[in-house]
Amino acid sequence: MCYTIPGKITKINGKKAIVEYFGEEREILNEFSDIKEGDFVYAQGGYLINKVPEEEALESLKFWKENFKTLKELDKNLAVTGFAKPSDKLIPILKKIQNKKEVSKKELLALLETKDKQDQEIILKTANQIRQQIHSNASCVHGIIEFSNYCRNNCYYCGIRKDAPVERYRLSPDEIIEIGKKAAHKYNFKALVLQSGEDLWYTEEKLSYIIQELRKENLLLFVSLGIRPKETYQKLFAAGARGVLMRFETANQKIFDSMRPQTDFETRIQLIKDLQKIGYIVATGFLVGLPNETNEDIVDNILLTKELQPEMFSFGPLIPSQDTPLKDEPPVKKETMLKIIALTRFAEPDANILVTTALETLDEDAKKEGLMAGANSLMINVTPDAIRNKYHIYDNRAQNDKDIQKNIDQTIKLMQSLGRAPSDIGLK
Ligand code: 5AD
Ligand code: SF4
Repeated sequence: MCYTIPGKITKINGKKAIVEYFGEEREILNEFSDIKEGDFVYAQGGYLINKVPEEEALESLKFWKENFKTLKELDKNLAVTGFAKPSDKLIPILKKIQNKKEVSKKELLALLETKDKQDQEIILKTANQIRQQIHSNASCVHGIIEFSNYCRNNCYYCGIRKDAPVERYRLSPDEIIEIGKKAAHKYNFKALVLQSGEDLWYTEEKLSYIIQELRKENLLLFVSLGIRPKETYQKLFAAGARGVLMRFETANQKIFDSMRPQTDFETRIQLIKDLQKIGYIVATGFLVGLPNETNEDIVDNILLTKELQPEMFSFGPLIPSQDTPLKDEPPVKKETMLKIIALTRFAEPDANILVTTALETLDEDAKKEGLMAGANSLMINVTPDAIRNKYHIYDNRAQNDKDIQKNIDQTIKLMQSLGRAPSDIGLK
């Protein structure tokens, strides 16, 4: 978003390029033929988004030059862990983690089941330290538009399931384009997610039109539309979409089948793999807290996400939603979610891990605590207020501030207070 620092191209090698941010180099994919060494660019999610005129870049860099160092130092200092002594059973696992050795499923399970408060704190702090060592203070903030709450499916947990008695809405392609343009120009987002229920009213043609128009605004576009034929996703890629958000929801097929009638686990996993082959940046992950889920399932969820090698990990707690069969499920504890973020960081040290809005609903500190437990990405909702309440996936959605600009300002303030800076996170 506003928050992305321009970088300088230092090397071009076919479709790959190296971009430099104050001495730190990141590899990005470049689809433009007129980019040359020495050009200034904005990059997001490992993609070159657009060229920035030198004058504009230098002005922005002047501002960031002073801030960048200060932020980086702050982040580093916050990640220095003068922490207490872990318990004996934790020591060998932590050693392995610090020596960048792979942690086993059994060890992840032991960490997840840690009850000792001091040990729990050490786990979160260690994850933050690893995040800092790998990504430094680089973070990324994406905008999200929820453009339709129609869905043909009836997932038991979801507040916009087909049978839920909610007021439905659909934005027209031109309305979506207008909101997207506003996100790009008024709010300066560089990456935008277009999300809806599985709503086939949006045909390939309509979606391609929206994407083509928004691509002209120099946005990295993600779509989150659910199951569609691979060919549709190929067409949307050709139209300019570059990312997909698609959680597999749970690695436990029994739970999957019991929660997602008429949908198929294998089809979903296969589609995620196909999307990667097409060239999409993929964000995937799971829900925490579905009925009958065990701690072992949670670890399996982390490991399946790792196996899929996504560019971004996205998981969040189930928030029981009124008028759904799961309305009375017990809420997931924030501590559990923070531990899962940390464990994900241990399982895949260079992962990009999102703090999802569902986590933010747990309490007002959850966003900050997530970022301090190993997470390094955020999303901000840019759906207009009037519609946003209708996109009711779950109750009491975090809308700490309905006003988008205020929400952005608060997020930037939070990130700065933690020393995080918006340089692109680069290819893995
Ligand atoms: N609580 C939290 N997340 C939910 N989702 C759907 N329903 C809920 C709920 N009640 C998530 C699913 C889906 C994403 C778009 O929203 O994981 O993939
Ligand atoms: Fe539809 Fe997704 Fe909700 Fe399932 S989780 S009902 S597919 S919007």
